[in-house]
Amino acid sequence: MADATATDQLRTLETLALGELVGYADEPALRLWNTKFFGDKGLMKAALGKLKDIPKDQRAAFGQEANRVKLALETAYATALGTAKDAALQHSLATDKLDVTLPGRATRRGRLHPATTILRDIYAIFADLGFQVYRTREIETDDNNFELLNMPPHHPARDMWDTFFTTTPGTILRTHTSPGQIHVMREKCPDPIRVILPGMCYRNEAISTRSEIQFLQVEGLVIGEGITMADLKGTITAFARRMFGPERQVRIRSSYFPFTEPSIEVDIDWPADDPNRDRLTKGTGWLEILGAGMIHPTVLRNGGYDPDKVTGFAFGMGPQRMLMLKHAIDDIRLFWQNDRRFAEQF
Ligand code: PHE
Repeated sequence: MADATATDQLRTLETLALGELVGYADEPALRLWNTKFFGDKGLMKAALGKLKDIPKDQRAAFGQEANRVKLALETAYATALGTAKDAALQHSLATDKLDVTLPGRATRRGRLHPATTILRDIYAIFADLGFQVYRTREIETDDNNFELLNMPPHHPARDMWDTFFTTTPGTILRTHTSPGQIHVMREKCPDPIRVILPGMCYRNEAISTRSEIQFLQVEGLVIGEGITMADLKGTITAFARRMFGPERQVRIRSSYFPFTEPSIEVDIDWPADDPNRDRLTKGTGWLEILGAGMIHPTVLRNGGYDPDKVTGFAFGMGPQRMLMLKHAIDDIRLFWQNDRRFAEQF
């Protein structure tokens, strides 16, 4: 009987298809299975094509059976596909672990070196006082560093600065920022001057916790008609109060520098409630912050100015020393050692 054969074929096909489905565990294999049985040239289609050969009165029964088989296979396929997808997901979760709830990895941000920060603070304070920043060279002539600052060769004051010499005679690494005074004066003369000169200085010293062979200085230079010690004192006081707090008292002691006359050293009082006060001020309550003075007439003349017409003052401070005081840094060598653990604290 044709219909019995066709129906048998249908059932054989069902058994075959279900059997194969069990072996196909992943999605691509299952999709091949689907094509094999349900594709355009698939086995189901071929089996259903037999319908036309079946006698009319038996077609309905065959059609019913065909629908049952089709539905059974489709259901089995959908279930197998769902299981396979789920297994694939579980596998990927277990092997390619990506925890989207983990906090992100922070980008390391750079920061300014404390020396840069304090220099910028100093620039800002002096900018408000009308000072411009003037940069001059670190490699200097012996003339600018000493001679034109009123220190002839063999002047005993040269002993205050242990100098690095270059192989070019008369060319040295500047021992202080004061030679910058000569550059500014010769460029600006006869105009009045109000500048600060920041930069690196070099001294041939034994390196220790307190002295380094390179360090920063900030020089100040003011020249004009009628400039007096009162202007120097007012400028330094204004600076100290902006830098160290509005309550600061300024104390002036007489001192000696060849290029200023009179010369002074300036101290500020340290807050009485700071537990570090004794250590920082060596028990005196006063802290030295800079050297200064009225510009020596010889130096004015060397810069091109007439000391009978103009006067001026100069000062020199060490920003690293201020930082060491402010942050209780007890070793000056830390500044240029490039140890990130140091820089990251600021
Ligand atoms: N140049 C001096 C030093 O290095 C400091 C100073 C500058 C003093 C200007 C007076 C005037 O010690």
